[in-house]
Amino acid sequence: MTILVTGAAGFIGSNFVLDWLSQSKEDVVSLDLLTYAGNLENLSSLEKNPHHHFVRGSIGDRDLVSSLLKKYQVRAIVNFAAESHVDRSIKESKDFIETNIVGTYNLLESGRSYWNDLDQNLKQDFRFLHISSDEVYGSLNSSDHPSNEKDSYKPNSPYSASKAASDHLVRAWFKTYNLPVYTVNSANNYGPYQFPEKLIPLCIFNALQGKPLPIYGDGQQIRDWLFVKDHCGAIREILINGQIGETYNVGGWNEKTNLEVVETLCAILDELKPKSDGKSYAEQITFLKDRPGHDKRYAIDASKLKNEINWHPQESFETGLRKTVLWYLENEGWMNHVVSGEYQDWIQKQYS
Ligand code: NAD
Ligand code: DAU
Repeated sequence: MTILVTGAAGFIGSNFVLDWLSQSKEDVVSLDLLTYAGNLENLSSLEKNPHHHFVRGSIGDRDLVSSLLKKYQVRAIVNFAAESHVDRSIKESKDFIETNIVGTYNLLESGRSYWNDLDQNLKQDFRFLHISSDEVYGSLNSSDHPSNEKDSYKPNSPYSASKAASDHLVRAWFKTYNLPVYTVNSANNYGPYQFPEKLIPLCIFNALQGKPLPIYGDGQQIRDWLFVKDHCGAIREILINGQIGETYNVGGWNEKTNLEVVETLCAILDELKPKSDGKSYAEQITFLKDRPGHDKRYAIDASKLKNEINWHPQESFETGLRKTVLWYLENEGWMNHVVSGEYQDWIQKQYS
C-alpha cells in the first residue's frame, strides 16, 4: 500500500516524507505543485528510492488526484499542501482561498469518491489526515489557557481564516459522509528545509549575509515552537493510533517571545560561526513596523495527544534550535539556491 502526501516538497511535507520512508514499509506518492515554497531538492536523497514517486500537480486537479489514488491503491492521504505564509496572505489572499479552501474541498471530494468505491477491507483502513494550524484558535491573552481541541475558532488573518475554513470542511466530510478523517492543529514548526521567509530561517539567512534581523513591533508576541521532526512523529502516531473524526493539537510546550527566539538564535550563531569583527549577530536586530492584525500569543495544549497516544516532543527549544542552526550552516548552498530564484528557473525548464 501507499500513502499520498500532498505539499511534499514543502518544509513539513518533505520532512514527513523522509521520516515516513525511514520508518514505514508503505510507499509514498508525493504530490506537489512546486510553488515558490516547494523545492524538489528537499527530496533529492530519494531520487533513486523505488518506494518514492514524485508527481507535480495540484490538489485541486480532481482527475489527476483520482488517477493517483487508483494507480497506487492509496491507503491514506496526508494533506500538507497549502499557502502557508501569513505576511503573503495579508498582501494578497487569492491563492490562500484557492489552495487552502477550494483545494482542500477538491481533495476531500477526490478522496471520498475513491474511498466509496473501495472494497470493504481497504475501505476500513483508509484515512484522510489534514494538517492545520494553532492560528485557527486566534490570539490568546497571557492569562488564557493554552488552546485545546474544545476551544472555539477565532482566526484573525486571511491565512488562518482559510485554514479554519478547510478544517470545517474536513469535519463536515466526516459528519456528513463518514469519511475517516483526522485534523492535526500544530504550533509553529522550525527545522531543516524551511523556506527563508519565516522568522527563524529568515534570521539565520540575514545574519549570515550581514543584513538586518527584522522584528515586527516590539517583539513581545509569543509563539509555541515545535521541532519539525517531532511534528512528523506525531502525525505518524496519529495515522496508526488516532481516533477517526478527532482533532489533535500538537505543540512543543515551548512558548517564547519573538525577541527571545532571535536572541537565542544569535547566541548560537555567535558560538558556532563567530563574526570576524568579534561583534554579536544580535547587533543586527532591527525593529520594524508591526504586522497588521498581529496575534499576540499562540500556545498549544498537547495533553490529548499525550494521554491518548502517548506522544510527547523529543526536543527542547534549545536542542532543536541548535540542530536547526547547524543544518542551515551545513546547507548554505540550499539556502542561497531557494532564495536566489535559480531553483524556480530550473523548475520552469524541467516542466515546460
Ligand atoms: P510550505 O509553504 O513550506 O509548503 C507548502 C507546499 O505546498 C509547497 O511545497 C507548495 O509547492 C505546495 N502547494 C501549494 N499549493 C499546492 C497545490 N495547489 N497543490 C499541491 N501542492 C501545493 O508549508 P509548510 O510550512 O510545510 O506547511 C505545511 C502545512 O502545515 C500547511 O498546511 C500549513 O498550513 C501547516 N502548518 C504549518 C506550520 C508551520 O509552522 N510551518 C504550522 C502549523 C501548520
Ligand atoms: O502557528 C502556526 C503557524 O506558524 C503556521 O500555521 C504558519 O503556516 C507558519 O507560517 C507560522 O506562522 P507565523 O506567522 O507565526 O510564522 P512567521 O515565521 O511568519 O512569524 C513568526 C513570528 O515572528 C510572528 O509573530 C511574526 C514574527 N516575525 C515574522 C517575520 C517573518 C517577525 O517579527 N519578523 C519577520 O520578519
